[in-house]
Amino acid sequence: MTFEEVRQGWSPRRGEGYHASAPGKVILCGEHAVVYGRPAIAVPVRHVRARASFVPGVGDTLQVELPDVNETWVWPPGPASHPLVVILEEIARRAGRRPAGVLTVRSAIPVAAGMGSSAAVAVAVTRVLAQALGLSLTPEEISGIAFEAEKVTHGTPSGVDNTVIAFERPVWFVRGERPKPFRLSAPLPLLVAFSGIRASTREVVMAVRRRWEEAPSRYEALFDAVASVVREVRCLLEAGRVREVGPLLVENHRLLQEMGVSHPVLDRLVETALQAGAWGAKLAGAGWGGNVVVLAPEEARDRLRGALRAAGAQAVWTTVVGEVADNP
Ligand code: MEV
Repeated sequence: MTFEEVRQGWSPRRGEGYHASAPGKVILCGEHAVVYGRPAIAVPVRHVRARASFVPGVGDTLQVELPDVNETWVWPPGPASHPLVVILEEIARRAGRRPAGVLTVRSAIPVAAGMGSSAAVAVAVTRVLAQALGLSLTPEEISGIAFEAEKVTHGTPSGVDNTVIAFERPVWFVRGERPKPFRLSAPLPLLVAFSGIRASTREVVMAVRRRWEEAPSRYEALFDAVASVVREVRCLLEAGRVREVGPLLVENHRLLQEMGVSHPVLDRLVETALQAGAWGAKLAGAGWGGNVVVLAPEEARDRLRGALRAAGAQAVWTTVVGEVADNP
């Protein structure tokens, strides 16, 4: 395919050009407290992904097509303060040349839903351009580049999203420390239910910051309580005692309610999941909307999916963390 054909609206055909993808993620426990130095555990959701394709062309410019958000632009210069521009500049700097051609990004990960959609797009784009320009980047380097883009998207992200997505492994994350992918001793069967309510991570994180500034000791105590839950969850996961993780997720949800980041719809979905036989459930991500994560035996999956849909979930995904690629 020539650049002229691409310009005339051809989309990259399967097998043509370069392709890369990145998974969604869900925070199993520790959100918000992680921004204040406490640990969090995040896991990849392999079945829901962002995909980037790059078809090289002649010339010195890159056409960026984001059909999901009806955006098309040419770089350089691209739009001011755009997360993808940060990535393009960094990749060009490392490669010593600009990627020229057409970059197309599509994502099945709902936006503003706590599933790391922006970080997954950033990782997929970094992967595809690195591949095309012959850069060999480690997961840590890819995560670092995506983190710079995340700063443009979210203001003061902790870095947990880009880390778990770039590593595609369960990750133990403490801000400012080297992230530690870790092994599960038994598969972790999860459902992720989308409330249909989109909330800005940046706004929720800023609201928690304001409350923490107003009542520091109360919020520090809540963050410490979350940290104890997260440590216990890790011990149980490493010991393969998956079912016992359930009540700890419920406790984490209660602490997030106290922080003021839940939502009546999220509370209803958590309650519904527990009544339908889940071992545990909690809101996942920033809150005020987005998702709940549900830990449930695989045989209860269909019943839970039905119950969550009936309770208002707009979409329900299932994943088993620790199977195949997540836990090599
Ligand atoms: C958002 O997915 C998780 C938060 O803890 C924010 C962050 O870690 O950057 C709420």
